[in-house]
Amino acid sequence: MDKFVVRGGNPLIGTVRISGAKNSARPCMAASILTEDEVVLENIPQVRDIETERKLLASMGAQIELGYGRAQHRTRIQCASLSNPVAAYEIVKTMRASSLVLGPLIARTGMARVSMPGGCDIGSRPIDLHIKYLEKMGAKITQDHGYLEARTDRLKGTHIIWEKITVTGTEDLLMAAVLADGETIMENCAREPEVTDLAALLTAMGAKIEGAGTSTIRVQGVTKLHGARHRINPDRIEAGTLMLAGAITGGDLNVSGCDPSHLGALINTLHSCGVRCDVTGDTIRVRSEGILRAVDVTTVEYPGFPTDLQGQYMALATQLEGTSIITENIFDSRFKHVQELARMGADIHIQGRSAAVRGKTPLSAAAVMCSDLRASAALVLAALVAEGETIIDRVYHMDRGYENIEEKLRGVGAQIRRMGEVFGKK
Ligand code: EPZ
Repeated sequence: MDKFVVRGGNPLIGTVRISGAKNSARPCMAASILTEDEVVLENIPQVRDIETERKLLASMGAQIELGYGRAQHRTRIQCASLSNPVAAYEIVKTMRASSLVLGPLIARTGMARVSMPGGCDIGSRPIDLHIKYLEKMGAKITQDHGYLEARTDRLKGTHIIWEKITVTGTEDLLMAAVLADGETIMENCAREPEVTDLAALLTAMGAKIEGAGTSTIRVQGVTKLHGARHRINPDRIEAGTLMLAGAITGGDLNVSGCDPSHLGALINTLHSCGVRCDVTGDTIRVRSEGILRAVDVTTVEYPGFPTDLQGQYMALATQLEGTSIITENIFDSRFKHVQELARMGADIHIQGRSAAVRGKTPLSAAAVMCSDLRASAALVLAALVAEGETIIDRVYHMDRGYENIEEKLRGVGAQIRRMGEVFGKK
């Protein structure tokens, strides 16, 4: 298993470019199920979760063409016929893929057999609300041997009031509603930019959608959708991770190719810490010098502070003067990085859904292990300021959602290399 070896101490200086958003690319790839025509997606990140999504669609009968060379971030998908509308456990077990293909499969083929999502390291993640509202749209859903079996003649438009704001729930039911009979109104929807990005693709495919990006989305179902070409949003979580890397190392870093309007909560928090963030077009320049102050953070649905940056912010909080209280509101066990940061000397006390992080605490290198995608990023950030050489194990977690992260960091001065790799990709 690949490991990262990181020697701490270098401020990050220069410009780093952001890839396309994993959490936009995945629902947009699933949306290709809704038409027999070709869907062309640009700015697709080359990360493992996208590889898994491709395998999943191909296993259902989709034709998938990967771009290469200059077109390596382009994917052409055609679901002319879906001979096997099944999301097999073997493919989806590493990633909660089923939650994004259930709605589109039922809407397009009238049936779906998808493996129930397994456990996840960040807490319980049921899809009960997806099921509840697909049933309200007329799907008959049964559970059998770890699989959900769903059938319908045609889904019917309905009124949904989400009990909880759910990103993939909103996306899954949006994809179901675009081919349903009649109007669907969804209230208390997720407002994440990934939902807006998906709605932009669906609209380009001929769907009738209003209100994406707000709490209330209206969909007028149509009988057929056509092909489209769509450019995926830049990854706001990758951008946030690199901004925090610039801040923690006391660097001067330009994070370019991002959409600063998606990062308001983080920019405000960094300003409160004393970190300068200057926005120019699609670039955020992050500069931090001198003493940085502790600031409390609570994770909230968009446009609040994203849970997917909680661990990375916690790494920074170990270097802030004072105590930062970090409260995780979205997932019930997303503090797996705390123990590993403590191995590096961090002073963190968990109480229920909050963690008190005392700083400024010098960190020292240690052997640590990744437990999930964003926890891995937290460990890399801590290692960038730790004294000595940190060995980070199980970086396959990070490869799920960060494209060439070690090269990007090395490009702005970090001392990081992948074990299993001798100075530069094979
Ligand atoms: C999406 O997950 C993201 N994944 C997650 O990013 C992100 O952490 C999360 O949204 C929150 O922002 C993708 O977009 C692929 P939710 P999702 O449904 O949609 C509860 C990463 O690191 N809930 O919005 O699965 C749920 O348990 C990943 O890239 C139900 O109870 O999250 C949670 O407590 C990790 N029943 C809350 O809602 C349901 O049917 C929000 O989860 C659905 C959700």
